[in-house]
Amino acid sequence: MLVSTLVFILAPFLVSSTPVNRPTSGGAAYFMTNLDDNVVVSNKISPDGKLAIACTTKTRGRGSAGVVANPGADPLFTQDSVRVSGNNLYTVNAGSNTVVMFRIDPNDPTRLTMVGNPVSSGGDFPVSIAVSEAKNMVCVLNGGEVNGVNCFKPDPQVGLLPIQGTRRSLNISQSTPPTGPAGTVSDILFSADSSKLLATVKGTPPNPGFLAAWSISNDGSLSKDFVSSTPATGGLLPFSATPIKDKNALLVTDPGAGFSVYDLSGLSVEQNKPASSSIIPVQGQKAVCWSAFSPKTGNYYLTDIGTSTVTEASVDGNLKGAVVKQYPLAANSSTIDVAIASLSSNDFLYVLSASAKSIDVLALNAPANARPIQTLKFESALKSKGITVDGNRVQGMAVFVRGS
Ligand SMILES: *[C@@H]1O[C@H](CO)[C@@H](O)[C@H](O)[C@H]1NC(C)=O
Ligand SMILES: *[C@@H]1O[C@H](CO)[C@@H](O)[C@H](O)[C@H]1NC(C)=O
Repeated sequence: MLVSTLVFILAPFLVSSTPVNRPTSGGAAYFMTNLDDNVVVSNKISPDGKLAIACTTKTRGRGSAGVVANPGADPLFTQDSVRVSGNNLYTVNAGSNTVVMFRIDPNDPTRLTMVGNPVSSGGDFPVSIAVSEAKNMVCVLNGGEVNGVNCFKPDPQVGLLPIQGTRRSLNISQSTPPTGPAGTVSDILFSADSSKLLATVKGTPPNPGFLAAWSISNDGSLSKDFVSSTPATGGLLPFSATPIKDKNALLVTDPGAGFSVYDLSGLSVEQNKPASSSIIPVQGQKAVCWSAFSPKTGNYYLTDIGTSTVTEASVDGNLKGAVVKQYPLAANSSTIDVAIASLSSNDFLYVLSASAKSIDVLALNAPANARPIQTLKFESALKSKGITVDGNRVQGMAVFVRGS
C-alpha cells in the first residue's frame, strides 16, 4: 500500500526523467468559423496524423459571405484565408476589412496569441493572405468594391505595419460583399524567389480570368501596374495557386476545366510579358478549386466542391500535368480548403468538408496511394465550447508542424 502510493507520487517524475525516443512531430490544423464573431479553430495533430479539436481563438472581427445564386459552402470564394508561416498565423475578417497576426506557441501550437491589433486591409472584403519570409512581407488580397492587394511588415511585438507603395488595385468591377464565384478574386502568393507578388482572378464566362503579377522593389514597394496572364484556351476561372516544386511555375486550379500549369519563366512585369500556361482537364469535375503539394509523394492534391472528390495530380520536369488518381469522399460533403502536414511519420492531407462540418484526413503513403484515416466531425464539440459553426461560412485550412 505504502509502496504503491509512493510509486504513484513519483510516477510523473520517473516518466519525465526517462529519456524516450518517440516521434515528436505533430502540430495543429486551423480553419475559421467566419461568422459574425469570427474565431480560429485549432485542432491538435498527433504524431500519427489524426486530429482532435483543441481550442478556439477570437479574431476580433466579423466574417462574411459573398452573394451567390444558390447559397452553399465556400463563402469567400478563395484559398489561403488562413495562412501559417514560421511561428505565425495570419487570417482575415472579411466583414470588418481587417487582417490579423497571431503568434503560434511552438510547445502547444493549438495556442494562438494575437500580435498587436487587427489592422485595416486597405480595401474591401479581404479574403486571402501571402507571406514571404525572405522579404519579411505579408500581403492581403481584397475582393470587394475596393479590390486589389496591400502589404505589411510583420513585427513580432506590434504586429502588422503597412508598407508604403504596396496598395495596388486589380480594377475589377465588384460589389461589397462580392457577387460570385465568377468574377471574384481567388488566391495570393509570392513567386518562389519572392521577386513577384501574384494573385488569381476568376473570369466571368465567356471571358476568362487571369493571373496578376506585380514586381517587388528592394524597399518592398510594388510595381505600379501588374501584368495579366490569361489561361490557355479552355481555362476560365483561375482559383488556387500552388508553387510547383523546384520550378518557376504554378499549378492553378480552374473549376471551369480542371487545372492549369503556369510557366512563369517568361513572365516580365517590366516588359509586360505574360506567363504561358497549359490546361489539364479533369474528367467529370464540377468545381476543382483548392490545391496543396505533398513533398513525400511529389504530387498535388486538388479538391472539388461539386463532386466532393480529391484528385491527385502530377507535374513532370517539362511542366506537363496529369491526373494520377481520384479519391471520392462522402457525397455532398463539399470538400473545400486543403493543407498538407509533413510529419516525421508521413505526409497527411487535411480537407475541410464544409457541408459535413468535418475535416477529412488522408495519409499520403506513396503516389497513387492516399488513404482516408479519419473524419473529424467538429460541430458538437464546438457547440459544447459555445462556438457555433455554419457549413456555408467555415473557410480556410492551414497547418503548423512542430519541430520542422
Ligand atoms: C479600370 O477599369 C476601367 C473600366 O473597365 C477602365 O476604363 C480603366 O482604364 C481601368 N484602369 C486601370 C488603371 O487599369
Ligand atoms: C446529394 O445531393 C444531391 C442533390 O441535392 C441529392 O440528389 C443526393 O441524394 C445527395 N446524396 C447524398 C448521399 O446525400
